Amino acid sequence: MDKTSSPETTSLSELVDLSGRTAIVTGGAMGIGLGVVRRLYEAGASVVIADIDGKAAEAAASAFDDAGRIRALAADVSSAEDADAMVRTAVEAFGGLDILVNNAGVFQGSPFLETGLELARRTLDVNLLGVMLCSQAAARRMIEQGRGGRIVTVNSVESVNPSVLGLSHYAASKHGVAGLIKTMALELAPHGIAVNNVCPGGTRTPGLAPLMDEDGIAELEKRIPLGRIGLPDDIARVVLFLASGLAAFMTGTQVIVDGGQTLRGAAV
Ligand SMILES: NC(=O)c1ccc[n+]([C@@H]2O[C@H](COP(=O)([O-])OP(=O)(O)OC[C@H]3O[C@@H](n4cnc5c(N)ncnc54)[C@H](O)[C@@H]3O)[C@@H](O)[C@H]2O)c1
Repeated sequence: MDKTSSPETTSLSELVDLSGRTAIVTGGAMGIGLGVVRRLYEAGASVVIADIDGKAAEAAASAFDDAGRIRALAADVSSAEDADAMVRTAVEAFGGLDILVNNAGVFQGSPFLETGLELARRTLDVNLLGVMLCSQAAARRMIEQGRGGRIVTVNSVESVNPSVLGLSHYAASKHGVAGLIKTMALELAPHGIAVNNVCPGGTRTPGLAPLMDEDGIAELEKRIPLGRIGLPDDIARVVLFLASGLAAFMTGTQVIVDGGQTLRGAAV
């Protein structure tokens, strides 16, 4: 066959169709994670919402019409036992696992000189080691199944440059995630598992509220070339893209989704 011609005949709708696939979304009870759950579900996937707030996960799950394709689980991504439990839940409920979305994250602001070990450790445990633990548990199952898989992590523009002050511990965790996925991508590629990151800029979620009031959001929006803060669905659409057949030849990359915010340079 001529290697320059495209043999691709799969239709666009087939490429984004996730029917028969199973996904875990960590931190899926609200914010960006819930946006991701909605899009994966709409694309036909069965979804496990794994969130440290079990009640919020149950409430989110109960909002979907077809309860047969959604499960809620109380789980802390920084616990290896909970990471295994997420995978077990997906396998017992839906027969396997195809997609992991590492979305859970914490981002409590604190100036560098005032940041204590407790906050720094918790931030690294959840944002960095949580991605490692959940990805290990998911990849082990995907390898056992022998049909490949996708790991998409919700990283941040903070993994590129600081966009605001007072998040040095968070930036450290997100830079760590940027490094982690590169070696993960190389080691998991022989098993057909693709590993990519999405890097949101400022996004309107419950978690952002304590960091930024409406005046702060208005200030931020002046620095965003596309003129507005992100919405959870802006990020969810790109997660869906990376989890779907549209991104079949991507691994080890970071996709920035920030309305152009990063182009304006680092925080001052
Ligand atoms: N909102 C933003 O501006 C923004 C920007 C860049 C990146 N992000 C990243 O996007 C992701 C989601 O952020 P968000 O704004 O939707 O947050 P959010 O606080 O609104 O929601 C986070 C969810 O994660 C859950 N969670 C927290 N710790 C957990 C743990 N240890 N185990 C399991 N679940 C846990 C929470 O209960 C909550 O349901 C995070 O990784 C965050 O770093 C957010």
